[in-house]
Amino acid sequence: MRFFTVFSLLFALGVQSLWPIPRSLQTGTSALKLHKDFDIRLNVQHPPQDLLDAVSRTKSYLVNDRLQRLVVGRGAADNVTIHSAKFISSLELSLVEGAAVQSIAVESQKEITSRKENYALSVPKDGSTAVLTANSTLGLLRGLTTFEQLWYQFNGEIYTLEAPVEITDAPAYPYRGFMLDTARNFFPVSDIKRTLDAMSWVKINTFHWHVVDSQSFPLEVAGFEELSQKGAYSANEIYSTSDVQDIVEYAGARGIDVLIEIDTPGHTAAISASHPEHIACNDALPWGDFAAEPPAGQLRLASPSTTKFTASLLSAVARALPSRLFSTGGDELNENCYAKDPQTQADLNSSGRTLEQALDVFTQATHGAIAAEGKTPVVWEGLPYWQYLP
Ligand SMILES: *[C@@H]1O[C@H](CO)[C@@H](O)[C@H](O)[C@H]1NC(C)=O
Ligand SMILES: *[C@@H]1O[C@H](CO)[C@@H](O)[C@H](O)[C@H]1NC(C)=O
Ligand SMILES: *[C@@H]1O[C@H](CO)[C@@H](O)[C@H](O)[C@H]1NC(C)=O
Repeated sequence: MRFFTVFSLLFALGVQSLWPIPRSLQTGTSALKLHKDFDIRLNVQHPPQDLLDAVSRTKSYLVNDRLQRLVVGRGAADNVTIHSAKFISSLELSLVEGAAVQSIAVESQKEITSRKENYALSVPKDGSTAVLTANSTLGLLRGLTTFEQLWYQFNGEIYTLEAPVEITDAPAYPYRGFMLDTARNFFPVSDIKRTLDAMSWVKINTFHWHVVDSQSFPLEVAGFEELSQKGAYSANEIYSTSDVQDIVEYAGARGIDVLIEIDTPGHTAAISASHPEHIACNDALPWGDFAAEPPAGQLRLASPSTTKFTASLLSAVARALPSRLFSTGGDELNENCYAKDPQTQADLNSSGRTLEQALDVFTQATHGAIAAEGKTPVVWEGLPYWQYLP
């Protein structure tokens, strides 16, 4: 029933390739095409490089997407109409009066509630110029993304049958995320970039990078190189510090913030490959008694030296990324693992703490390290694993 509603809405709107649907979208019934010398003009003082690049990408998508109508003949029936249609020669981009000019990346990495993704786009039917206005370069990027999705191509002509088009748009949700796990399965940087492209086309603004887990530790961390050297699937399946910078820059230029996650204190068996002293119940069997899924292994959260190690590891990763958010995971902790770990029991005994109190001390220390880097810690809202079972 819900699908039926969504699809009928899409077809009713006609602009079949535009998703998400803008807050306000008005379309007409006139044919309009882009002039063969169509250009995008930036009325922005000292435009940042990533805005110039976004404009180049839009120009390239307009020509290379070759989107055709979802009808038999793919637009052949429009041929005569297109031939005699009026055209527009340019799209003019400007920022509203008084808006500061910053790079798209900087705008994308701001506190989520202060990002300005709104834009207004007007495509006339009479052959004058199309106009895109926004409060920030990030808003201009969102508007360019919408603009490039308004057109069909047939017989070398780039056209719409729905001019004029009037759009004002703003996000329904400030956080629009996509999560990728690169620990169970490693994805090359090129695959991540391809994914970031697709995310930007649908205006997703957060890449939640679940980079490490119990299966592998594919992240090179300055000062903690042994973690990936011993904990990655192979030497070819490691994100170097320059790969991370590359991904962060690529994402930022596309309006996407990279929220990295180092899952702790559970999901950490891969750390035992280089630091067995920090891991309780490593690979213990039957795994179902020690973890939500194999291999078992959790940080010894009651140990002061493990707590210190974890806090410095998290700081080192946090320092390498510009996002205001950082995830410490926090999900699916197994109590039996600690009950059966002699060292944890000794640590609890000597501190006089319960496991819950020790977890509190560990969390305050690790989250304190994130806060000291100027970031807000993010965690899973974890249920015990059996609550996920049908
Ligand atoms: C479309 O029109 C052009 C001339 O404008 C013509 O050369 C072409 O053959 C037509 N194509 C179709 C499929 O009708
Ligand atoms: C600019 O921001 C103001 C205040 O949030 C908003 O009312 C306006 O619609 C925005 N302008 C554009 C072009 O998005
Ligand atoms: C913890 O201390 C209690 C006594 O307070 C003792 O019975 C127990 O063996 C100790 N356990 C460990 C693991 O040290």
